[in-house]
Amino acid sequence: MERFERQFAATLGVTHAVATASGTAALHTALLVAGVRPGDEVVLPSLSFIAPANTVRYVGAWPTFVDVDPHYWQLDPSELRAFLRDDCTVRQRELHNRHTGRRVVAVMPVDILGHPCDLQGIKEIAEEYGLAIVEDATESLGALYRHRPLGQWSRLTCFSFNGNKLMTTGGGGMVVTDDPELAQRALYLTTQAKDDPLEFVHREIGYNYRLTSVQAAVGCAQLEQLPTFVAAKRRVAAEYARALGELPGIRPMREAPWATASYWMYTILVDPEHSGTDSRSLLKALAARDIQTRPLWQPLHLSPAHRESFARPCPTAGWLNQVALSLPCSTGLTEEQQRRVIAAVRDECARHRRHGETTRPAAIRPGTLAPSQ
Ligand SMILES: Cc1ncc(COP(=O)(O)O)c(C=O)c1O
Repeated sequence: MERFERQFAATLGVTHAVATASGTAALHTALLVAGVRPGDEVVLPSLSFIAPANTVRYVGAWPTFVDVDPHYWQLDPSELRAFLRDDCTVRQRELHNRHTGRRVVAVMPVDILGHPCDLQGIKEIAEEYGLAIVEDATESLGALYRHRPLGQWSRLTCFSFNGNKLMTTGGGGMVVTDDPELAQRALYLTTQAKDDPLEFVHREIGYNYRLTSVQAAVGCAQLEQLPTFVAAKRRVAAEYARALGELPGIRPMREAPWATASYWMYTILVDPEHSGTDSRSLLKALAARDIQTRPLWQPLHLSPAHRESFARPCPTAGWLNQVALSLPCSTGLTEEQQRRVIAAVRDECARHRRHGETTRPAAIRPGTLAPSQ
């Protein structure tokens, strides 16, 4: 276990790593370690898999959702700032959401799809408002922000080794930090908060959240392959961008100037006005050819599970939910398989354009989808 943690920390260039049973457990632990308390609020992007928002509820706190940016689809620093400036007020030296009355204590940037958020922009705002940062990099292991690995940018960063992630231990996660006290506390909480293991004394409620040693051994082997996995993902991404970038109404995933993406989940946007089709029709047409694609998640501000949470308007997240489609992009995807996917996408778009089918116009369009944009 220690070997996996040591090697993982060294790979990312951080001093401490604590292995957990899942990425979800890593996030839950990190929130506890960051001192988020019941009744507090944590700011999250609306466009994400649901797990980070759920972990905020696990600690009895509330997620607050803000919109993502239309270019890279990540937590938008200007939306974070707008929330803190327009929706919050300082009372007794603490920041409160003026709508809910709750204390706003932290922000959780989620680096979605293998692409980093604008972490520097978020950090500056968090510092200005005294917010803790717990970064969810579970989808973006191997990505770089300003040429440095994710994990180096926030006080606490979490990763996942779920079966669908870039490297896997079957299931598992990691909390990384440069702060020895935070690491010690994460270790304590994830191992049942044992104060005296011999006499079974526990001062706090702990969790059985440790990774197993069998999984850690798998992790060591997987970690050696991380550069190969990232290179494979980037190759797949470059080929999709080359082959689909000029198709009318199809916009490939972009890399921000600050980012070296791992392209964990390669995603395109399908403009119903110019592509001739729309994301859900294309999904069905590709499924009929045995090609599995996926839309992005229901935006969290619309999720029934989080209906009681506060949210700012999140039109970009809603729009992306309607137009985005993730394509096959596993590290094992062969060139031949990728050619088949590309040909099928081209074919379906051309067929629909010929038939003049515009099946479902996007209801919300914060950005145009011209390929040159
Ligand atoms: C953004 C995000 N956060 C957290 C998780 C949870 O990780 P795990 O499945 O390892 O619990 C996932 C994916 O599984 C995720 O995509």
